Amino acid sequence: MIARGLANDPRLLRLAALLGSPAQAFLDRQRGLQLLIKPAGPLAGISNLPWHHDCWYEAPPITCPSVTIGIQITGSTSETGRFEVIPGSQGKSVSPKLTSDEMAGWPQFGIDTEPGDVTVHLHDVLHASPAPTGDGGRATLYMTYYPPVLAEHVRVGEEISDMLDRRRSTPS
Ligand SMILES: [Fe+2]
Repeated sequence: MIARGLANDPRLLRLAALLGSPAQAFLDRQRGLQLLIKPAGPLAGISNLPWHHDCWYEAPPITCPSVTIGIQITGSTSETGRFEVIPGSQGKSVSPKLTSDEMAGWPQFGIDTEPGDVTVHLHDVLHASPAPTGDGGRATLYMTYYPPVLAEHVRVGEEISDMLDRRRSTPS
């Protein structure tokens, strides 16, 4: 109920509308409402995200254009592993195996936040959440608004990867 209220909160809907095309939150598929927690101390796994974008190469018309809104619970800095972006990278084709050498000279922009701030990013802008440079300790709620057509392809309880696996295993 809280997630549904948040998805339909007029303030979030107003921010999602900045996308300029129809988009809606799906709480019953994809990852719904996501809580990213980077607890203090050493981190491992996907808490630290390398540079990437969120438009699946095999399904971009389904997953994009999309927008993700991050509600900052703790606020963030480089010491806590903040959100970082490459401004202007949206709509560009990049290799999924992008290297730091290839990115030399690209404008990397870290976003410091306070509790209660929100970040808004397009799914196809390059972004990352690097390892904390300090003690860590960050929590952010993420709500994503996808094209409505996603519901025609991704079933309840599925993520995009499940849909792709299902289609690969189904004889045509
Ligand atoms: Fe992402």
